[in-house]
Amino acid sequence: MINDCVDDLRGPDGQLPEKLRNVTPHHIEHVSNEIMIKNPNVHWDDIAGLAHAKKCVNEMAIYPLRRPDLFMGCRSPGKGLLLFGPPGTGKTMIGKAIAGEAKAAFFYISASSLSSKWYGEGEKLVRALFGVASCRQPAVIFVDEIDSLLSQRMSNGNEHEASRRIKTQFLIEMEGFDGGDDQVLVIGATNRPQDLDEAARRRLTKRLYIPLPSSGSNHDSPSFYKPFIARSNLLFGLLEARAWIVRNLLEKDGLFKISNEEMEIICNLTEGYSGSDMKNLVKDASMGPLREAMEQGIDIMELKKEDMRPVTLQDFKNSLQEIRPSVSPNELGTFEQWNKQFGTLAV
Ligand SMILES: Nc1ncnc2c1ncn2[C@@H]1O[C@H](COP(=O)(O)OP(=O)(O)OP(=O)(O)O)[C@@H](O)[C@H]1O
Ligand SMILES: [Mg+2]
Repeated sequence: MINDCVDDLRGPDGQLPEKLRNVTPHHIEHVSNEIMIKNPNVHWDDIAGLAHAKKCVNEMAIYPLRRPDLFMGCRSPGKGLLLFGPPGTGKTMIGKAIAGEAKAAFFYISASSLSSKWYGEGEKLVRALFGVASCRQPAVIFVDEIDSLLSQRMSNGNEHEASRRIKTQFLIEMEGFDGGDDQVLVIGATNRPQDLDEAARRRLTKRLYIPLPSSGSNHDSPSFYKPFIARSNLLFGLLEARAWIVRNLLEKDGLFKISNEEMEIICNLTEGYSGSDMKNLVKDASMGPLREAMEQGIDIMELKKEDMRPVTLQDFKNSLQEIRPSVSPNELGTFEQWNKQFGTLAV
């Protein structure tokens, strides 16, 4: 197995590319088998709203990776992109969608696993990661929770020697391919952008704010939602992304029977909910019909799926008591502030 991955990367002369000569086969294998994701299976159409982010990502990552000939010289894009915003707004989803849409090799690593699982070896793994990515280009390296790798806190005296080495190696690798012809893009995601240190911030040249699905960036929506909009102009606008998440999830289960007016009420009641809060809300609400059946003394073992009633507005209202928004207005202010100061194109 190890030999397979390594042999795959050998040139016609049977030699490994220079970037991999000092990397152990064990690390190459780990990068090829566990960090490189063959098919992340997330597409733009799975992500509600975020038109602005999608547009920027297309321009910065997807088109350049697919048409490198057009994006040369002055048009050559930056090699580092930061997605920041409150938790549960789709940053990780965007990372996965980029790989699918760009048809690039996709390397996914969560920064916390790098320092915990690879204690003492993280820095070698980082070298292997960038080496393999460069051999497999076009490639996207997605570093989730990048704050835990490149944070300011780590630069004080308490920082572990091992973590410091990982961080240094990472910055060196990024510096190395910036400005070169390699088609490798590093995308970092964080919900703590204020923790990133200056050196990291400088290398992630574009910094995109991924807001809650209500902050005005939701002028578009996945294409198959369009017929729904045509039927309801009411939902057009800022509420759209939350409505889309509800509809999409319930339709997958064949449980969608909510009118446009009811949907508008749900949207109004969920101001401040993130994408992941919405998902949890839908999950809880869709338990409503089952809970009701149990209260009526119906034996769940006997219950037929087709006899279950659809999910209603009342189910949502009940669940709203349980599922509260996970981001406070206070925290939102911090993100907006950071976006104003360091973000690319204020949304
Ligand atoms: N814009 C969105 N469209 C559709 N679903 C979404 C969206 N945002 C979040 N979700 C739902 O929430 C879940 C969590 O999203 P994701 O992991 O991408 O959030 P994140 O921004 O990476 O959060 P964190 O900062 O906590 O890592 C997704 O699996 C998805 O079900
Ligand atoms: Mg995430």
